[in-house]
Amino acid sequence: MPTAGWWEALWPDPAGVLAKVGLKPGMNVIDLCSGDGWFTLQIAKVAHHVVSIDIDPNMLEVARQRLTEGGITNCDFVAGDAYKISKLWPAHADFVFMANAFHGVPDKPRLASSVRDALKPSGRFAIVNWHPRPREETVILGEPRGPKTELRIGQQAVKVAVEPSGLRMVEVLEVPPYHYAAIFEKP
Ligand SMILES: C[S@@+](CC[C@H](N)C(=O)[O-])C[C@H]1O[C@@H](n2cnc3c(N)ncnc32)[C@H](O)[C@@H]1O
Repeated sequence: MPTAGWWEALWPDPAGVLAKVGLKPGMNVIDLCSGDGWFTLQIAKVAHHVVSIDIDPNMLEVARQRLTEGGITNCDFVAGDAYKISKLWPAHADFVFMANAFHGVPDKPRLASSVRDALKPSGRFAIVNWHPRPREETVILGEPRGPKTELRIGQQAVKVAVEPSGLRMVEVLEVPPYHYAAIFEKP
């Protein structure tokens, strides 16, 4: 998880990103690989309920503090592996949000199948990913930031990894300055 200063500079409007990728009032949401809760807080302000899942309990603790300070009571925090999403939170979700993490998943088709099992029919999976640009070009606060160049994948590679699960790509959106969002739907 990056240090806060440049993360805030990169994501000054997390609520705007969430609205753009399809978060709506009343939804039950899972923020997968939620980190320190930068997006989770804004999800909680809109959704009916959000579950914050991360493998790192320390990250979840930071997120818990952030949401508590924000007066949020409609969030649960679950420590565990993203592959086990539907076991970690068995109630089916309307929306699974995954930002800045899909590029690092070793077995992406397996993760996609797990997300499919966690979604209701017509539920959506939004993946916010770094564009596959060289790391030297993604400068924030004067320095190259983000994952190693070789880990970055484009929208076509994401589609190829996710669609065998049965989830269908329905939209790809620009999320400036350095990201795109690939949106999938469960039939
Ligand atoms: C770069 S951070 C992104 C956090 C958040 N999504 C955001 O955009 O602000 C990636 C997060 O993924 C979590 N993570 C890595 N592998 C995971 C796994 N197998 N299951 C669940 N979380 C994982 C890390 O602990 C870290 O908090």
